[in-house]
Amino acid sequence: MIELKTPGEIDAIAAAGSVVATILATLRAKAAPGITPLELDALAADMIADAGAESSFLGYHPRFAPSPYPAVTCISVNDAIVHGVPAADPLVAGDLLSVDFAVHLDGWCADSAFSVVVGDDPDPADMALIDATERSLAAGIRAARAGAKLGDVSHAIGTVARASGFGMLENHGGHGVGRSMHEDPHVANEGRAGRGVKLRPGLVLAIEPMLIAGGTDAYRHDPDGWTLRTADGTRAAHAEHTIAVTKDGPRILTATR
Ligand code: MF3
Ligand code: CO
Repeated sequence: MIELKTPGEIDAIAAAGSVVATILATLRAKAAPGITPLELDALAADMIADAGAESSFLGYHPRFAPSPYPAVTCISVNDAIVHGVPAADPLVAGDLLSVDFAVHLDGWCADSAFSVVVGDDPDPADMALIDATERSLAAGIRAARAGAKLGDVSHAIGTVARASGFGMLENHGGHGVGRSMHEDPHVANEGRAGRGVKLRPGLVLAIEPMLIAGGTDAYRHDPDGWTLRTADGTRAAHAEHTIAVTKDGPRILTATR
């Protein structure tokens, strides 16, 4: 069942989103050769506490997972696509990092992710992968207009992603978000324009394309049961925003303000 949010509730999600955006901006700035994902996760945990928020990830235990999630961030390095458990290995120059992060503030959740290459000399191929992922996200957001259909959003995401020639993670996508991190509807990263539910003001969605450099869509699970890796060993990128459909167009709720 899809729950529409009131304007006041959307503002509350935006307040959570502002915390998410501020912390993600800090993690982006700190992501450099020598620091470990575990250290970045600890920094995020401190900032969550300072903001009076709560992690949406820590202890999260969906059916597919063997154990409760052990961290406040997902940090997926190189061939890890999403749900990377922050590791103790220092980052090295040239690593492609995706950081996925959500908090609850006053009972409302916001979810966002970015990808970045650490160090001063990124591989142009990595930058092209990140750029295509961000353009795919932007296209999905632009399509999230009142009166359009959910399939228009999926179609917009998928069209940009496929035009890039990169692969895209199969069977994964975005989701409704609100009191819970994962609500209806599922937002597929490919779909047919004009299909699916009608988008109404008050619909809040996390849109999140995940692209694979090698051009194939296949993935595998790590033994930890969480981390998804590309099957071909090439790199992956992820970008995500929580957005609201409003009568004035899509509103990004996970931007710094
Ligand atoms: N933001 C992620 C998603 O929507 C959620 C990560 S689940 C966690 O898929 F348990 F890893 F936190
Ligand atoms: Co999400």
